[in-house]
Amino acid sequence: MKSSMTKPLIELKNLNFAYGKRRIFDNLNLTFEHGSFSVIAGESGSGKSTLLYILGGFQKPARGEYLFSGKRVYGPFGEFGLGRFRKKNIGFLFQDFRLLPFLTVQQNIRFPVLFSGVRLPEKKVQEQMERLGIAHRAEAYPTAISGGEAQRTGLARALLMNPPLLLLDEPTGNLDGITEHAIADVLEGLKKEGLTLVCASHSNYIMQRADRVYDLKDGNITVRGTRSHTVKGAAQKKIL
Ligand SMILES: Nc1ncnc2c1ncn2[C@@H]1O[C@H](COP(=O)(O)OP(=O)(O)OP(=O)(O)O)[C@@H](O)[C@H]1O
Ligand SMILES: [Mg+2]
Repeated sequence: MKSSMTKPLIELKNLNFAYGKRRIFDNLNLTFEHGSFSVIAGESGSGKSTLLYILGGFQKPARGEYLFSGKRVYGPFGEFGLGRFRKKNIGFLFQDFRLLPFLTVQQNIRFPVLFSGVRLPEKKVQEQMERLGIAHRAEAYPTAISGGEAQRTGLARALLMNPPLLLLDEPTGNLDGITEHAIADVLEGLKKEGLTLVCASHSNYIMQRADRVYDLKDGNITVRGTRSHTVKGAAQKKIL
């Protein structure tokens, strides 16, 4: 009990990453607490998406360690281990939502699970759609839904398997203020349920609602502001 509650969910230690000669992270050290809501800010090209890919188990750092719940993510188990890690722990909302145009809203939500070998209780898709207010668009195709609905479809898909960590890449990039407020409410609700959230964003509004804002610049990260967050009273999400 003690170690799992006091240890951060995520620890990055001396992380280095480069795309060829383009260095993105130089000895990055960073922790994310259980049940915290963090925003990663920084100019275009500063490495926000790259950091989320590393956290999601999609992009191996050149050097350094990534510990998730005390265990090495890019350890000795290779792609098989990473696949398991992603399936159990990660929900990812991509920058452009990445919905498949030939599938309906509810088929898009269900799609990644089809290939994961996990049996999906029928009502889970319906529950997620209702919670995010898109159930009435279940049979619509992505070309016929709004930006906000597309984003909530991507979010429903990311949340389907109850991941403890939700990574969001500019979730409100193309949305108007009202939709932005609605998504901030959803994110805060998820935090209350015990999820840990890391969100790349330029939005001042989303930053105000987060516990902590980090600025990425020239391979370094600095903390801009801290709002004390508490996981007391919120269920700590079970780590598988
Ligand atoms: N696969 C790749 N190969 C080479 N360079 C890449 C690759 N992906 C990203 N980059 C470069 O790495 C840098 C960081 O990219 P990243 O996508 O992480 O930035 P970002 O902060 O998310 O930017 P944005 O705000 O525009 O989404 C950029 O200069 C980008 O051009
Ligand atoms: Mg990006």
